[in-house]
Amino acid sequence: MIVVEHDEETMRAADELVELGPGAGTEGGEVLFQGSPAACALQPAAVSRTGPYLARKLRVGKDARQRVPDGRWLTVRGASEHNLKNCDAAFPVGLLTAVTGVSGSGKSTLVNDILAAAAARKLNGAKVLPGRHRGLEGLEHFEKTVRVDQEPIGRSPRSNPATYTKLLDLLRDLFARCPLAKVRGYRPSRFSFNVRGGRCERCQGDGQIRLDMQFLADAYVECPSCSGRRFNRETLEVRFHGKSIADVLDLTVGEAMQLFRHVPRIMEKLATLDAVGLGYLRLGQSAVTLSGGEAQRLKLSLELSRRQQGQTLYLLDEPTTGLHWVDIQRLMDLLFKLRDAGNTIVVIEHNLDVIHLSDWIIDLGPGGGNEGGEIVFAGSRAGIERESRSLTGQALARWKARG
Ligand SMILES: Nc1ncnc2c1ncn2[C@@H]1O[C@H](COP(=O)(O)OP(=O)(O)O)[C@@H](O)[C@H]1O
Ligand SMILES: [Mg+2]
Repeated sequence: MIVVEHDEETMRAADELVELGPGAGTEGGEVLFQGSPAACALQPAAVSRTGPYLARKLRVGKDARQRVPDGRWLTVRGASEHNLKNCDAAFPVGLLTAVTGVSGSGKSTLVNDILAAAAARKLNGAKVLPGRHRGLEGLEHFEKTVRVDQEPIGRSPRSNPATYTKLLDLLRDLFARCPLAKVRGYRPSRFSFNVRGGRCERCQGDGQIRLDMQFLADAYVECPSCSGRRFNRETLEVRFHGKSIADVLDLTVGEAMQLFRHVPRIMEKLATLDAVGLGYLRLGQSAVTLSGGEAQRLKLSLELSRRQQGQTLYLLDEPTTGLHWVDIQRLMDLLFKLRDAGNTIVVIEHNLDVIHLSDWIIDLGPGGGNEGGEIVFAGSRAGIERESRSLTGQALARWKARG
């Protein structure tokens, strides 16, 4: 049996581990280690990114300080959708709260169906119908609500990190100001692969051409006219420091930071991508090929780059799914940054590293389905281990006892 997995228990239970890395994207792609989990735990950090965490020499931690409720609350009253048993759930404003509980205990119902929907309806004017509840108090502390998930950003293969962050708009302006572009009268739209003018018309800016294979799945070949470069020859003749717009889209964020180090507005966008650990991504990499974790970090980077910050309610449903410890650390650093900018974060989470670091825990259960739907515990981490009905509390205690 071969499993692709980050879950600690699964890794420990495996007979053999194969670790790839060391980094992600262009910085990965090598087999770092192969052998038993015990042997992996003995590897130094220079060899394995996983071993030191298995050995517990490294842990997901936080620089930020623990926060305590300041008297402002966001409270869902009388939640009774699905299996919820007329619960009142109070989320401390300005803190990071973990909503925990076994599968089927009612977490998604409480957070997504009720809290997210009711908040989006009132704050963002969204036309959604929230799940059954009596009322929501404390919305005056918020300006808007944002859900950050691992869904792909945009369904179109034409969207990419450069379009998503609006970096491409800045690049198009920059290319239109190059001497040759001015002489020829090229406007910024010339450097778009979405409209006529500068793009290759044979493939309409796709860089590839679809072959109709009759009964088989469609096949794609590189466009013979532009050789996959997406722009026509005249457009590609315009260069910034020797690079065409196609060359620039082929750069990683890190490489682009070298090229544009004297262009502050572009650097600002690149720096936020780098700060969320996406320095290895290519600017033009099709959004549909990004992993769930990468898409999530891209969304968080956009949130962090907003000029006016604070008073936002962020909701995340199991954000660590598919993430390695290294990625979880990065995610938590980002979430605490958002929290310290005056926002409120609610995460549904099973990962004990994350639950352990949270400021506040709301534990649903005790079981799943009809046996769940109650709030078993609400409070800071210290209290949950003493709550005998809380399976999360017991798991946390065992996890800590292991050292
Ligand atoms: N659309 C639905 N219709 C009926 N029951 C649902 C629906 N969605 C969830 N449930 C039930 O509500 C309970 C809580 O589910 P959910 O909130 O998804 O749990 P969790 O997110 O904690 O795993 C479960 O018993 C589940 O089967
Ligand atoms: Mg759920």
